[in-house]
Amino acid sequence: MAVRGNFSSKIGFIAAAAGSAVGLGNIWGFPYETGAGGGAIFVLVYLFFCFALCFPVMLTELAIGRKSGRNAVGAFNALGHKKWNFIGKLGVLSGVLILSFYNVIAGWAFGYTFEMATGNFAIAEQFGDFTTDVFAVGSYGLLFMLCTAFIVSKGISGGIERAAKILMPSLIVMMVSLIIYALFLPNAMTGIEFFLLPDFSKLNLSVVFNAMGQAFFSLSLGMGTFITYGSYISKSDNLVSSAALITLADVGIAIIAGLMIFPLIGFVSGGTLSGVGRGPELIFVTLPYIFGEIGGTTGSIVGMSFFSLLCFAALTSTVSLLEVPVAYVVDEFKISRTKAAWLMSGIVYLIGIPSLLGNGYSSFFTEFITYINATTSTDFLTFIVNIANDSFLPLGGCLMVFFAAHVWKKSNLDAEIAIGFEGYEESFIKKYLGFVVPFLLPATLAVIFMMIVLVTFFGL
Ligand code: TRP
Repeated sequence: MAVRGNFSSKIGFIAAAAGSAVGLGNIWGFPYETGAGGGAIFVLVYLFFCFALCFPVMLTELAIGRKSGRNAVGAFNALGHKKWNFIGKLGVLSGVLILSFYNVIAGWAFGYTFEMATGNFAIAEQFGDFTTDVFAVGSYGLLFMLCTAFIVSKGISGGIERAAKILMPSLIVMMVSLIIYALFLPNAMTGIEFFLLPDFSKLNLSVVFNAMGQAFFSLSLGMGTFITYGSYISKSDNLVSSAALITLADVGIAIIAGLMIFPLIGFVSGGTLSGVGRGPELIFVTLPYIFGEIGGTTGSIVGMSFFSLLCFAALTSTVSLLEVPVAYVVDEFKISRTKAAWLMSGIVYLIGIPSLLGNGYSSFFTEFITYINATTSTDFLTFIVNIANDSFLPLGGCLMVFFAAHVWKKSNLDAEIAIGFEGYEESFIKKYLGFVVPFLLPATLAVIFMMIVLVTFFGL
């Protein structure tokens, strides 16, 4: 077998893994889900899921990856359980589907970078026209996909690690500066209250499901990203502290994004917070408006910097999404990394075209499907989100944890986690995993998966 790449340092691995986790999910998805989910109560449920349920899933993926030293599918073969590699295949499929629409949204962010550069703040009121201009938006998406393919083709330490180490810190600096600016605006505090003071009367099942889906998506779980990345890390790394750092970084950036956006919404709405639940268009409407308020060259520079960093955050995520299918074909079919990266990205781009057309340009893809018992139709992009994110990720997570506990066996999982972690045997984390991994976690994920399917597709 050809020599596989590796991360050159622990910090490089953490940067790349946190780079995978931190992306549109945090800065675009988290604020709009929070806005639609009633504010702080959504945040609370989300935090609970991240630490109590998602963190053990991440550890399990990392342990499977490092032990096997293989891609998401090959890992199951290498552990001697070829029959179970359908879990990895489901993961590869999820990765392809997620990347196909993710790239469309990244293309929007890319396009906004140019709009801000030319000072076109009026784009705030023209988001709908922007997404229907499919030739422009499709070209931005294509450029984005080419960047992703280029980095993945360069391999682990030369491409993925190097990009992440520079981009992640810049993003944090930019967002914290915007928070400071936002906090001094009139009515900023109404937004902060909405974000931080939970209203328990708003708690319901859909808040719980959405928070769960958001946690899985934001942490890049359930499709073998961390099996794949885990296969490139060294035996001396402590998996528990790595997983903890990645989770904290991801949650931290989501909170930072919230602290940035909600005061701005408080300001824009004059304290009424109207429009806070507007969904996916939230940041594409609120932020350019704010940059327009700042105005002139400064507004242009701030807007351009923000959207370019959003693109970079998205890029470290698209890289990880593409890496999963690429590592699979490189390991299992002995295709060169370069060829695999260009081939896969081409396929994914084509699969994403209906998602591109379904935002108002083509009525067929915009009103693509009407689920059983639904009163309105669902567009193609949302349809893929419902299948891949909402359903496949919790299902994949459930199967991986079940596999680790009962097929590979909990003792092997423990043995792998113990490598690089002195004192694991007596640790709290070992007891906690012993408590959740064998039954509670897979059962909870299975129930959530089934409920999501019933509610989303069958309207129950
Ligand atoms: N977590 C990323 C985000 O928040 C998206 C992402 C990258 C992802 N790799 C993934 C989501 C794997 C699910 C699975 O934007």
